[in-house]
Amino acid sequence: MGSSNKPHGGDWKQRIFRWMDDNRGFIVVVVVLPLSLVFGLFMKLRHWLIRKFVSAPEKHDERVRAVQSQVMRWNKQPATERKLMCTARPNWQSLSTTFFRKDQCHQISLPLYDILELHENRMTVVVEPMVSVGEVTAFLVPRGYTLAVCLEVAEATLGGLAMGVGMTTFSHKVGLYQESIVAYEVVLADGSVVRATRDNQYSDLYHTLPWSHGTLAFLVSLELQVIKIKSHLKLEYIPVRGQHQYCQMIRELCGALDGTTSTPDYLEATIYSKDEAVIMVGNFCDVPQTEKHKINRLTQWHKQWFYKHAEGYLRTGRGFEYVPLEDYLLRHNRSIFWVVETMIPFGNHPLFRWLLGWLLPPKIAFLKYTTTPGVRAMTFTKQVFQDIVLPMNRLEDQINKSEELFDLYPILVYPCRIYDHGQHRGQLRPPRKDQLVPGTNYGMFNDLGVYGVPRPVLEKKRFDAVVAMREMERFTADLGGYPFLYADTFMTREEFEQMFDLTAYEKARQKYNAVDAFPHLHDKIKPEIDVIEVGKQYVEPL
Ligand SMILES: Cc1cc2nc3c(=O)[nH]c(=O)nc-3n(C[C@H](O)[C@H](O)[C@H](O)COP(=O)(O)OP(=O)(O)OC[C@H]3O[C@@H](n4cnc5c(N)ncnc54)[C@H](O)[C@@H]3O)c2cc1C
Ligand SMILES: *[C@@H]1O[C@H](CO)[C@@H](O)[C@H](O)[C@H]1NC(C)=O
Ligand SMILES: *[C@@H]1O[C@H](CO)[C@@H](O)[C@H](O)[C@H]1NC(C)=O
Repeated sequence: MGSSNKPHGGDWKQRIFRWMDDNRGFIVVVVVLPLSLVFGLFMKLRHWLIRKFVSAPEKHDERVRAVQSQVMRWNKQPATERKLMCTARPNWQSLSTTFFRKDQCHQISLPLYDILELHENRMTVVVEPMVSVGEVTAFLVPRGYTLAVCLEVAEATLGGLAMGVGMTTFSHKVGLYQESIVAYEVVLADGSVVRATRDNQYSDLYHTLPWSHGTLAFLVSLELQVIKIKSHLKLEYIPVRGQHQYCQMIRELCGALDGTTSTPDYLEATIYSKDEAVIMVGNFCDVPQTEKHKINRLTQWHKQWFYKHAEGYLRTGRGFEYVPLEDYLLRHNRSIFWVVETMIPFGNHPLFRWLLGWLLPPKIAFLKYTTTPGVRAMTFTKQVFQDIVLPMNRLEDQINKSEELFDLYPILVYPCRIYDHGQHRGQLRPPRKDQLVPGTNYGMFNDLGVYGVPRPVLEKKRFDAVVAMREMERFTADLGGYPFLYADTFMTREEFEQMFDLTAYEKARQKYNAVDAFPHLHDKIKPEIDVIEVGKQYVEPL
């Protein structure tokens, strides 16, 4: 490999980049955080205006008719002139790491921001798709409920999660976010509105809408399962040494071994090295009068970052505390799991936390808004951001593979049921026989969350992101797993169709006239840049 493979641009440019790279924390603090703060205030104002002047739950039907008429108008265009449709929501507002080329599509605006109804007897809440996790949580918790699958990321929208995928620390009880959806109300390509449930005449849509990323229909409302809560959790931290020991303990606790349903309410593990993990077990509880001093409001700005706090139990041994539910749900907020550490290496220092901790987290929307194509091309080769659904009986292999390819810690593990809904029902295949939990119709899988900068990159050694990612994808396919599609994928169309089962999806595309109306799923989620080419440029020569 010669120097011709390096990006061109002259010496001074290189030197500036290197300087910025070396002083990244400083730049983030003096430039990015203040701008992100201002940006965040604008977003808040915008939201307040929407709440004040646009919000009107009783006008839902009217708004749906407005979406329908936009789609009808598209239908009236000559077929040869029609561009494929997508939502008008700008890329920077979405959490997905790819930048889908919306400019090449016919954009339909979906100003659907309202929480419509809480059905306490049915234990469901009906919402419009642009309601965020943070908003619905603020609405539900004071009423004694929360979403059955309630993401940690306050900014994620309930519609985006429904068309993509969601998973949380409650998923070992109920499965993926899609399992907690009772009904989808969608506008089809011909402009008609239908309501799809598990067992009505649109059950084919019900099963193919998740993981479809808006390539079958426009979502205009959804009905979601809620659960009853208590105001606090008793959160136990169990430090475990030995890979097999911690893997086995997670499998036991989540019921993967015997299908027991007397599992903890919330369960997750953070893995700090091949040999060390902290397993966190949360149960709803009332705090005893005598133990009020053990309440920890985790999200206060000056507190330690959550994963650092949890790591502390590796030194001090098993322990517990009481955590208000809202704090628990947003526990990873200030450090965006452990992503902020790569931006601000000193961010968890007490001095920083007490002085400037309130500036965190940087707004993801701001980071995306300011991502130029050049930055985008460089960052995807220098950091990993992946959530992958993999079978839990192979947890040890997952961790070893992640270390072999990326060598970064911590790694996040959330156990999650993957249900067998039968052959060719949705994009996920039924779990394999050896993955099924005995006596049940589900397999126990887990989210493997790998976020951060691979060690070779940190050490300025040779790292080929594309090779590593493609190897991870091959590993995932071999085990019958699936990467979340909000993150970058490197699969060809052919490989993609081998991993996912698109049988029912393609049928639904035909039946509901989506083929000439919406992009194909693979076209929608593949990176907007030629990753293979860009990847090659950024591999440091040996
Ligand atoms: C820092 C970070 C941490 C994360 N952690 C987790 C985690 O712990 N667990 C987890 O499950 N996920 C996690 N995610 C991923 C998150 O679930 C996805 O980003 C998800 O897609 C929600 O994002 P969004 O609301 O921005 O949706 P979008 O990206 O806006 O939407 C997802 C897809 O659905 C389409 N779509 C959206 N609305 C509609 C509509 N009304 N009609 C038709 N199509 C529509 C969009 O075009 C897009 O293709 C994380 C992401 C980030 C960035
Ligand atoms: C963090 O929480 C605040 C509210 O406390 C919210 O506005 C913000 O969007 C959250 N950030 C993320 C990344 O979830
Ligand atoms: C994972 O790696 C460890 C040590 O590197 C090894 O002892 C163990 O056998 C590996 N596990 C699997 C399942 O390959």
